Amino acid sequence: MTTPYRASFAPAVEHYVHSTSHADPVSLARMCALTGAVRGQLALDVACGGGHSTWALAQAGCRVVALDGTPEMLKACGGEGRKRGLTFDRALGDAHRFPFRHGVFDIVVCRIAAHHFANPLAALREMSRVMHRKSRLYIYDLSAPDSEAMGRWIDAVESLRDPSHVCCWSSRAWEGLAIGAGLRIVHSARYRRQYDMENWLGRMGVKPDVRQAIRERVKSVPPSWWDDLSVEVGKEPPVFGTPLLEFVAEKF
Ligand SMILES: C[S@@+](CC[C@H](N)C(=O)[O-])C[C@H]1O[C@@H](n2cnc3c(N)ncnc32)[C@H](O)[C@@H]1O
Repeated sequence: MTTPYRASFAPAVEHYVHSTSHADPVSLARMCALTGAVRGQLALDVACGGGHSTWALAQAGCRVVALDGTPEMLKACGGEGRKRGLTFDRALGDAHRFPFRHGVFDIVVCRIAAHHFANPLAALREMSRVMHRKSRLYIYDLSAPDSEAMGRWIDAVESLRDPSHVCCWSSRAWEGLAIGAGLRIVHSARYRRQYDMENWLGRMGVKPDVRQAIRERVKSVPPSWWDDLSVEVGKEPPVFGTPLLEFVAEKF
């Protein structure tokens, strides 16, 4: 069976491997610092995509397992990693059910992917299951502000661009999910950014009529939301950016 996310990501592999936003060195360094990534630790990269988090953890000296449900993405992550002289293991699998034993990973990361998960609580429980008492979980993902209306707007626009988008969860929702998975959040931060619109739409091969529909939606965002959604309607094309949420959690 082809999962919706595989249909979206298989044709986009090269764009993700070479994506400058996913390769942002500042955010990757922060991920390594917050997880305490050092030589010899065993790290799991859930939904590794093109491989940016996997490579950063491998460069920090971790033994990494890169997991993704899109075989084409996993292959590209391995190929580019080899070109960079990095070694790590790969596992084809779904974020809701890992082929790993309990409590084996020192670090679990999941970066810019959880908004695709059909059941984030099940995925978080699975991440928690493979952690031990001193492990650290790092999640970094698109996020909705606490306003439900803004959340619905973000999900509608993100889904137009990528039909495999499921939901951007608010920080309040993540707090509940973490507790449900037996995790305690020990750090959290929110980030705003603006999409480079042509790059963002091009990465998913969005058709001209859908691009136009997205531009129209951005133009009609009420001014009271502009700050939260980083909207600039004077620009052509009009610009916005879905906020990001980062958190680190431990098992309780
Ligand atoms: C934007 S990419 C991830 C980016 C990557 N983590 C990074 O740091 O560069 C999203 C990835 O999530 C994967 N994915 C989405 N849902 C998944 C699921 N339920 N199980 C496994 N992989 C999934 C897709 O195949 C895709 O490769």
